[in-house]
Amino acid sequence: MNQSNLSYTVAPGGQLHGRLRVPGDKSISHRAVMLASLADGVSEITGFLSGEDCLCTMKAFQKMGVRIERLGDTHLRVHGVGLRGLKAPASALDMGNSGTAMRLMCGLLAGQPFASTLIGDASLSRRPMKRVINPLATMGARIESQDGRAPLQVQAVQGGLKGLRYDSPVASAQVKSCLLLAGLYAQGRTEVYEPEASRDHTERMFRAFGIEVEAREGYAAVQGGQSLRAADIAVPADISSAAFFLVGAAISPGSDVTLVEVGINPTRDGIVTILRQMGAQIDLLNERQLGGEPVADLRVRGSRLKGVHIGKELVASAIDEFPVLFVAAAFAEGETVVTGAEELRVKESDRIQTMCDGLRALGISAIATPDGMRICGGRMHGGEVDSHGDHRIAMSFAMAALCAEQPIRILDCLNVNTSFPGFATLAAGAGLRLTVSGS
Ligand code: S3P
Repeated sequence: MNQSNLSYTVAPGGQLHGRLRVPGDKSISHRAVMLASLADGVSEITGFLSGEDCLCTMKAFQKMGVRIERLGDTHLRVHGVGLRGLKAPASALDMGNSGTAMRLMCGLLAGQPFASTLIGDASLSRRPMKRVINPLATMGARIESQDGRAPLQVQAVQGGLKGLRYDSPVASAQVKSCLLLAGLYAQGRTEVYEPEASRDHTERMFRAFGIEVEAREGYAAVQGGQSLRAADIAVPADISSAAFFLVGAAISPGSDVTLVEVGINPTRDGIVTILRQMGAQIDLLNERQLGGEPVADLRVRGSRLKGVHIGKELVASAIDEFPVLFVAAAFAEGETVVTGAEELRVKESDRIQTMCDGLRALGISAIATPDGMRICGGRMHGGEVDSHGDHRIAMSFAMAALCAEQPIRILDCLNVNTSFPGFATLAAGAGLRLTVSGS
């Protein structure tokens, strides 16, 4: 996607109030469409995130012959074709802005008896794909790329894939899930070890679809050839989208927000741990299970935050929340230091550089390091920042305006639709003084 001229202008001040439901979890929505498509029988998905990333995944399966009915904006009925029932797509599969879609689909397509091509937008075409191409090649897949980047041409495999035992150098659920999906098509067992535990939605959902999987912290394994049984999946609200409101309310005194039915999977709840360490007042209410995932209503009230040190052990469980955590740090008393987060450099944008540039443009003292940032909490004067088309950067700076002294204008915000359709309306309804201009 090229640079959009959609911008947000957010007037300073205000508080956040209300009981809000943010859209469905992006990671879980992708996986639900994938597994339901490969299952025998009909599955229903409720709470589906109808953001552009997950719609790319849905359209890819429709192109491969899967009938998917949209019973409502967030309600899908998927007529699964079985593990070996996909058909060759007539043209390239467009994964848009989504790294999850591209990497998981790459694994799944590597096991098919037909060739396929995966393409993406400008941001996705810059992101590293060798992390999946190399282990898939060891399994017997043949994938051609542009020096490790999309477009990816996945060839049909002769003789099928072989299981592998893989020590992943990065804690990445995308890499792990890619290999587990390929592992369904492989002879023997596919095992993945990781340096830190990454999100385990694939493993949980495998079980919901009747796949036996062995999983513990930092390890997951699956035996090839297992078939999937249709299952109905209720998708929790996305903690990564809730994060903007958690931080927005935490930094603005007088705010009181409850975010309902939010996924609090322990591989994803680093934002709650870190904000609490910073002194935020967050209560987990009504804890329960939804679709094999733990959920809760999260109540957050404005408080004074203090700077913290965040090291590698918390990075994977909060990986998508660092842009907004950097905003929390900008208003905290003292210094916040983040280390071990070099993965942020290869997300939808280089999130260390983009956030550091934006914070500095607004008057905050921040220093980018190769694997993180040092931020001194202080006064933010307002001004203009460029999100570089990164949805999470755009929403993070929107929340910063709650405590800024002047309006903040945020450029290139169209990609907010990839993960959080309706953000501007929901945020404005909760009290953010946000106006949208351009298209
Ligand atoms: C995701 C995993 C994470 C995360 C991304 C979604 C997933 O990426 O940043 O937004 O759904 O598996 P990595 O696994 O590459 O860290």
